[in-house]
Amino acid sequence: MALLDVSQVSKRFPGVLALDQVRLQVGPKGGQGEVHALLGENGAGKSTLIKILSAAHAADEGTVTFDGQPLDPRDTPLRRQQLGIATIYQEFNLFPELSVAENMYLGREPKRLGLIDWRRLRADARALLEALGLPLDPDEPVRRLTVAEQQMVEIAKAMTLNARLIIMDEPTAALSSREVDGLHAIIAGLKARGVSVIYVSHRLAEVKAMCDRYTVMRDGRWVASGDVAEVEVADMVRLMVGRHVEFVRRVRSGPPGRVVLKVESVTPRRPRLSTPGYLKDIRLEVRAGEIVGLAGLVGAGRTDLARLIFGADAIASGSIHLDDKPLKLRSPRDAIRAGVMLVPEDRKQQGCFLDHSIRHNLSLPSLGPLSRFGQWVDERAERDLVETYRQKLRIKMADQETPIGKLSGGNQQKVLLGRSMALAPRVLIVDEPTRGIDIGAKAEVHQVLSDLAAQGVAIVVISSELAEVMAVSDRIIVFREGAIVADLEADAATEEGLMAYMATGAGRPSPSGMELRPQ
Ligand SMILES: Nc1ncnc2c1ncn2[C@@H]1O[C@H](COP(=O)(O)OP(=O)(O)OP(=O)(O)O)[C@@H](O)[C@H]1O
Ligand SMILES: [Mg+2]
Repeated sequence: MALLDVSQVSKRFPGVLALDQVRLQVGPKGGQGEVHALLGENGAGKSTLIKILSAAHAADEGTVTFDGQPLDPRDTPLRRQQLGIATIYQEFNLFPELSVAENMYLGREPKRLGLIDWRRLRADARALLEALGLPLDPDEPVRRLTVAEQQMVEIAKAMTLNARLIIMDEPTAALSSREVDGLHAIIAGLKARGVSVIYVSHRLAEVKAMCDRYTVMRDGRWVASGDVAEVEVADMVRLMVGRHVEFVRRVRSGPPGRVVLKVESVTPRRPRLSTPGYLKDIRLEVRAGEIVGLAGLVGAGRTDLARLIFGADAIASGSIHLDDKPLKLRSPRDAIRAGVMLVPEDRKQQGCFLDHSIRHNLSLPSLGPLSRFGQWVDERAERDLVETYRQKLRIKMADQETPIGKLSGGNQQKVLLGRSMALAPRVLIVDEPTRGIDIGAKAEVHQVLSDLAAQGVAIVVISSELAEVMAVSDRIIVFREGAIVADLEADAATEEGLMAYMATGAGRPSPSGMELRPQ
């Protein structure tokens, strides 16, 4: 008998049938937990289904049984936790000022004579962290932890609840590859203890590597379920998207134009890493119509460099030229005015007004050019602009007036990407542009970047996905520990070659491969 059995569940939001008679069955199998991948395009209904399981939403129809017992649709989220269903959302629910141990047992602290028994709290937390193999200090305040460590706290917290099913909504979206390996090891440990996991991810190679079964949803409907071992990644894509998708290497529309962006020896006033030579003597040129990809491990300095070019961090020395004129940047506002745009990797940094309409969010910064006589917004032009990007990026939305907060995560990302593109900048820097975006839509984002380049925009793409860097770039620059270790034509690049540069700084892998000085 399945641990979780979802049958004919439907959920309607105004204007959208988010779930239409969905089914899902999850583990366990042979004493072990099951890791079940929940797959689907952006807006397919994955998060909505999860929210129904955690009781953040109530289903309109259908039944859910857990451990043989039908779940009451009127349950509170707390009740579901008590039953053994823990959910880890992408936005964590931790208290930054409290310690790891306090967060783990919040509201359920061990008591002695009516008072919190701090000694036991710490000892319990330490024992559990050790048993789970999580390298965390129970006394550390959560605000000092990395995203990956915060995620570990969420997992540990779920275990204090004796969760038998842990749901993870895109747990690896913000993790580096080493942290992903760590998470996978933890999940393997959970599985051995009989805990089942629902794993939502757009990274299909990960799904293939660590999940037992899968369920694919499309447009709110169940499409397929089966054993991961029996399908190839390409099959999963076809089930999700309904067609074959493959990244095609970009073909330049013509030779690149003049140098638009020239960065010379910029160094940050406050370097994030104290590695000697970190971001010293970086030289970068991007021409009109050219797409330059920045490859590197997380922490190699690519994002920090982008922030310098965008005026988000202060420069100690060096210079930035735009069209041969020196750029003086005190803030991102100066950069935007000059025509330099950055789409940062973290959606929350981007000034996304969750309660405001999609129309407003997408067109807000472009209102200048869209206003007649400098005052009134030309509403027709504004609608046309939003409609253009809806089509180009296939943004799934009921209508333009919907608040952006009601879109699925990936579709929010597309709106924000469209917003920067709509500004028609001279230089566009996109940092992990397709994080959280499904594989079909990734190919569309690549096409839109290519179209912008054809219009003469100088583009920089930062991406940790090598297949993406290789597909979208004309030239690839590899960063390692704050320095440029390679600059090559994309045609000449191979995935293995780039990996070797990223890991060792040399053109060939060392005998010990990735183990050399990991970051
Ligand atoms: N609170 C809400 N109000 C209105 N519509 C909503 C709400 N939550 C979700 N939707 C809609 O339901 C549909 C499914 O969204 P959901 O967030 O479940 O997608 P998803 O599969 O998680 O996508 P992603 O991969 O982008 O995270 C979308 O069309 C979305 O706009
Ligand atoms: Mg989602």
